[in-house]
Amino acid sequence: MRKRLVAGNWKMNTDMQDGYRLLKDILDGVREDELNACEVHVYAPFTHLKIFSNTLNGSGIGLGAQNCHQESVGAYTGEVSAEMLASVPVQHVLLGHSERRQYFNESNAVIAQKVDQALANGLKVIYCYGETLEERESNKHFEVVETQIREGLGHLSADQWSDITLAYEPVWAIGTGKTASAEQAQEIHAHSRDLISKMTNGDVANATRILYGGSVKPGNAGELFGMADIDGGLIGGAALNADSFKGIITA
Ligand code: 13P
Repeated sequence: MRKRLVAGNWKMNTDMQDGYRLLKDILDGVREDELNACEVHVYAPFTHLKIFSNTLNGSGIGLGAQNCHQESVGAYTGEVSAEMLASVPVQHVLLGHSERRQYFNESNAVIAQKVDQALANGLKVIYCYGETLEERESNKHFEVVETQIREGLGHLSADQWSDITLAYEPVWAIGTGKTASAEQAQEIHAHSRDLISKMTNGDVANATRILYGGSVKPGNAGELFGMADIDGGLIGGAALNADSFKGIITA
């Protein structure tokens, strides 16, 4: 069975001191039985990763970065490679977040290259996808998410899918307080799983976790995570408060 996953995406929030305090509060608050039942990851800013890696070592909480570059090495001022992340070490990387797509013009093709870099360096990937409000209102949401998954991940072998988690994040639900209804999310998740099955096989589709992200809070997490194809959440705002993040893990 798929183990549930609750992942906190801190985005560009917290300085070193506040971030460390938040991490310690999460670490002190999450119970061992919860970690047995549910995987927990923190996706922190690059500057925090080395200290967080030392702090989380042996804790059972996974650590990831929020991006990596699509090339392995070279003259790309200001960028961070997957190899650098693996050497920290971190185990995970978030790729294709809608904010990267929107503000940094990341295309499916570039994200596909990033996925390759991550996998080649032994990192596990959370691949984010999701439609805008305009795309949903013009009834293109199934088509859009299908293209994002095919173009970003369609080149992978069935074996490589064991290092991939999907995160469906409808852009209109991110940071807006508007959550997709559990039924709306389930519909896309089921469609995505069906697509993975077509791209690989039924075993891979059954084993692949699909998270939901977009205004998840302790109060709505239980209903969302209760749906058949929703295997946990990718949490933004509510991951910046230890109590609400823990509340979602408990849910
Ligand atoms: P919010 O939980 O703040 O809506 O953000 C979701 C998100 O983008 C997680 O990656």
